[in-house]
Amino acid sequence: MYQLNKLAKEYGIEEEILQNYCTTHSINTKKTKTCIQQLLPFIEAQTNRKFSQLPESNFSIQYENKEVSIYKDDAISFLQKLPSNSIDIIVTDPAYSGMNNQLKLGKGRIVGKYSEKGQENGKWFDEFQDSVENYSIFLNECQRVLKKSTGHIYIMFDSYSLLSLGNTVRSFFDVKNIITWDKVNIGMGHYYRRRHEYIIFATNGNTRKIKNRSFPDVWRFKRIHNASYPTQKPVELFQAMIYASTEEGFTVCDPFLGSGSSAVAAIKNKCNFIGCDISDKSINTVQSRLNEFINTNTDPIQKNSAVVDKKVFWE
Ligand SMILES: C[S@@+](CC[C@H](N)C(=O)[O-])C[C@H]1O[C@@H](n2cnc3c(N)ncnc32)[C@H](O)[C@@H]1O
Repeated sequence: MYQLNKLAKEYGIEEEILQNYCTTHSINTKKTKTCIQQLLPFIEAQTNRKFSQLPESNFSIQYENKEVSIYKDDAISFLQKLPSNSIDIIVTDPAYSGMNNQLKLGKGRIVGKYSEKGQENGKWFDEFQDSVENYSIFLNECQRVLKKSTGHIYIMFDSYSLLSLGNTVRSFFDVKNIITWDKVNIGMGHYYRRRHEYIIFATNGNTRKIKNRSFPDVWRFKRIHNASYPTQKPVELFQAMIYASTEEGFTVCDPFLGSGSSAVAAIKNKCNFIGCDISDKSINTVQSRLNEFINTNTDPIQKNSAVVDKKVFWE
């Protein structure tokens, strides 16, 4: 017989609720595979699942009956504490180490205003160890926490990490497309100056569609100049992902939060949000940003719109 208590723990739901559902729907708990298949849609539909392994959040805030919770943690360790099948969509922009280590951009160190802010090791922030092995552990956790019947994932890549790690995504998800983010203005680079990054869009073995089949796969949003947080992305970039892949009340997760642009975008789309970052600077930035955004509807660290085209697809 399949142990309902094990299932209850893994999915963050009361055993009694599962037991009642099995009884009222005549689900045979002796048939493990069909029992889980029949229970999963019910489990995924539960909005108040317990994130029981998580400690108290470092910061949380409510708006319009939605929850936003922020944790200071390592991405993998954070994901390991989330129940299986609990997240509707992951949008994330990892701190890849490969680009800095392998491409040797310029003199291989950060220049400009962030270099003056005590970044003694020449790095913007802690980097995620992006060997294929470690990246696979990360993707495996993303796959486990994402809902099987509806989960979508958007992962950002620079050109280097797309070549070294992009293919690994296929071992865990159905890759549907690679979106190009055109930053409109050129940045650094010795062999053609960089103007774009990539976003892999994939599903967790399901066929849930995006909101509209006419959305394009090249997105033009201006990069943020003189950002408060290094590598701060425009909110609109995450808004596009979240708009295309969510309904109101979905739960969005970002395990590499940075300045929290993804959290602001989730709030603009009326979603719940849960995320983490390993650095204190990030947690402090996100906390003051979200407090101000929710209370005053103004974003203190992205004052201007990044939109350049007359119309964007969520308008
Ligand atoms: C590229 S930035 C994210 C920027 C963010 N998308 C934004 O718009 O501000 C990557 C973030 O990952 C964080 N980070 C690095 N290693 C980490 C780890 N192992 N676990 C969680 N976060 C990590 C860094 O502190 C940094 O804030």
